[in-house]
Amino acid sequence: MASATQVSELSDLDLPFLPIEDPAFSLNPVDRFIEAREHHPWLARSTMGPILTEHAAMRDMMRNDEHMVIGFNEIVEYMGATGTPWGEFIKSTVQVQTGETHLRLRNALKSAFSPRMVNRYRDVMREQVNLLLDEWLPKRRFDFEEFASYYPISVMCRMLGIPTDIIPKIRSSLEALGLAMSMDRAFLPQLQESALLLDQTAREVLASRRAGDRVSDEPDLLDKVMEVQESGEMSEEELVNLIGFMFVGGYDTSKNVITLIMHALLDRPEIYAKCAESLEYSRKVMHETFRFHSPATATRKATQGFTFRGVRFPAETLILFPWGMSGRDETAVSDPHSFNPDREGLRQSHFGFGMGAHICLGQFIGMAQVEEGFHVIAQRLKNPQLAGEVGWRPFPGVWGVAGLPITFDAE
Ligand code: HEM
Repeated sequence: MASATQVSELSDLDLPFLPIEDPAFSLNPVDRFIEAREHHPWLARSTMGPILTEHAAMRDMMRNDEHMVIGFNEIVEYMGATGTPWGEFIKSTVQVQTGETHLRLRNALKSAFSPRMVNRYRDVMREQVNLLLDEWLPKRRFDFEEFASYYPISVMCRMLGIPTDIIPKIRSSLEALGLAMSMDRAFLPQLQESALLLDQTAREVLASRRAGDRVSDEPDLLDKVMEVQESGEMSEEELVNLIGFMFVGGYDTSKNVITLIMHALLDRPEIYAKCAESLEYSRKVMHETFRFHSPATATRKATQGFTFRGVRFPAETLILFPWGMSGRDETAVSDPHSFNPDREGLRQSHFGFGMGAHICLGQFIGMAQVEEGFHVIAQRLKNPQLAGEVGWRPFPGVWGVAGLPITFDAE
């Protein structure tokens, strides 16, 4: 590698190649990253662009992200979807905004997504997971991933104060949109249909609330975000997009984390039992799972050329930050391949919600629903056992388990 005074061009480096789109890659990405670090300590190549492989490199490059923007528009372009309903949906999300617009939206929405606001919904989260367990436990055998998928949508409906009967209508669209960043053009027709349906649903939700329909007199998250729009801090179109994005942003991510926890604990019954005993322990297990296996990979595009650790990254380079792999880097975490919820500095050990200007706006909702949900699941779903093949989602975008068939003991 170049010394501090030498600068190497990115294209001159002999970097290991990570075939991240290959279905075989998603079965065991951790080992592929370990092998890549043996060839180069912090950087690899992929078909999309350079991919960081080291915890400190991800952190340090993202800390100075003033010369990078979210790479979603490039992904839309790569998919040939610029100007289409899905392309427009992506382009309008909070996540893709930059500079003043992004800052205005983040500031305006801060209190709507604060820990204080989220804590008001912990009872709702417990109630929703219990309702789902009432319905699913009598089956005695099911796909845990499918079960988990209903939980974040039902929580989001309750937080927004809208009837949960929209779930069957939107669930398959959320499922499709969750695969959007996996860079497979075969998904495009579903993505277009799903973006249109979500836009229409968000407009109907708003029209109905403005017509005075509500499921409760208590002020809810929908009132909060509508107030932001009414105060002039957010446009009507930004509000419509945000309502859609609140379903998408929290759906796949939360579902995957809960399923990854179950996957990790199928072989660790003593840890599973402790999750049932204590919410505090369920929280530790959630953070350890984020470190061990978390789903999100972020992309950024360099808006100008910059030098990092002696390597020149040209303008327009798309750079990948596989957050979920950062916690398995031996140079950052001691004994990284053992699953230990009692390890020190757990909360700081992972970047499951990203970092920097675009750190997850819904992180407190995400954390509360995962820890509360899993605490209740572990109490009622006894002695879970694997009952078939485990499937894996594509690695780019939101990775995780795709199919976790289980059996368990009767309540
Ligand atoms: C366990 C659950 C969740 C995980 C793992 C997760 C993960 C992430 C990650 C990694 C990012 C940063 C992406 C980047 O830097 O490119 C992000 C951003 C975001 N997330 Fe989440 N998320 C979760 C739940 C939620 C929920 C429940 C919501 C909303 C209701 C939400 C809304 C957002 C929004 C709006 C952004 C964009 C923030 C910005 O660009 O300023 N997320 N999320």
